Amino acid sequence: MSEEQKYVWPQPSAELIYDDWYPAMRSAELRGKRMMKTTLLGIPVVLGRKAGGEIFAMRDLCPHRGIPLSAGWFDGEHVTCKYHGWSFEPCSGQCAGIPSLTSKDALDASRIYAATYPCVESDGYAWVYVPSPGLGRLAARAAQEAQGAQALPPVPELPKFSAKFRSAHLSAELPCNVDHGIIGLMDPAHGPFVHQAWWWRSRASIHEKEKRFEPIPQGFRMSAHAPSGNSAPYKILEKPITTIDFVLPNRRYETIRSGSRWFSSLTTVTPVTASTCRIDVYGAWNILYAVPFVTSIVKSFGARFVRQDQVTMIEQAEGLRHNPALMLIDDADKPAKWYFALKQARLKGVGEHPLSGPVTLRWRS
Ligand code: FES
Ligand SMILES: [Fe+2]
Repeated sequence: MSEEQKYVWPQPSAELIYDDWYPAMRSAELRGKRMMKTTLLGIPVVLGRKAGGEIFAMRDLCPHRGIPLSAGWFDGEHVTCKYHGWSFEPCSGQCAGIPSLTSKDALDASRIYAATYPCVESDGYAWVYVPSPGLGRLAARAAQEAQGAQALPPVPELPKFSAKFRSAHLSAELPCNVDHGIIGLMDPAHGPFVHQAWWWRSRASIHEKEKRFEPIPQGFRMSAHAPSGNSAPYKILEKPITTIDFVLPNRRYETIRSGSRWFSSLTTVTPVTASTCRIDVYGAWNILYAVPFVTSIVKSFGARFVRQDQVTMIEQAEGLRHNPALMLIDDADKPAKWYFALKQARLKGVGEHPLSGPVTLRWRS
């Protein structure tokens, strides 16, 4: 076996993980009588906010003949289909009226449901619970009712460590499948090449690193440590402690704490279709709370950072179109291997956690 063959890794199948929460969009976009369209895991979804403030997410297809519900009307209470005027209560999906029915019709409209998804606001996002597509609409509804909302996993939330904080968010579309997006997120070796900037780090600053990782449920943690001395922004803080968690299906939590000062971020990579995804970054901090313009400075640095990843992935997508065999090497690509193992275990319901205990990885970056 050649050296290369030892590390060959077939391109990810991009199977999607259903039955979990995904951020659909910023919830501030849901206002008035607007209906907002998006795609999550290949499913067309329409979101909105009822007059009472409650947000909703429906499959953007009328159960009558499939026209997108977003083509119709929303009056703050009901979504009405453009084609034959069937109307639906958008949180439950229950049909509230079929205009063509006469008093002689036996059809009970209230027993018809449009597909809806649990939808909750957290950290300024509308999070949507995306169930497995295998179930038919009615079976899915029955299962959901039988389980009750309590049976759903908790909605993700960014940890915050003080009552007062500032926050910012960013998002970027990536032209690759969710697996490439996620392993890009946890890839320690691309920093000095993709994210070169005077204020961050240069290629010349590459040095050997040793980091401890430990298993956590559905993921792994880069254990608390003092962050790299070659990252200028960290020098603002005294003896900061950083923790980075990756948790299935798509979440990277990073917290940096130094005494009472903290910075916290949640980055998610959400499958839009089988071959595209979107990265969302939400950050909050109480460092330099009183200094004006910090939010816009953080946003512009953050946007530059995300843009660098995005440009790289657009270039990568060009190469991936040719379906090349790829490689995952030790130790720098170990977190990516763990991700694939965790994902397989979750999808197949078998297999062990790839980390049986704490592990130290070494790489240069
Ligand atoms: S297609 Fe929606 S009411 Fe007929
Ligand atoms: Fe990056």
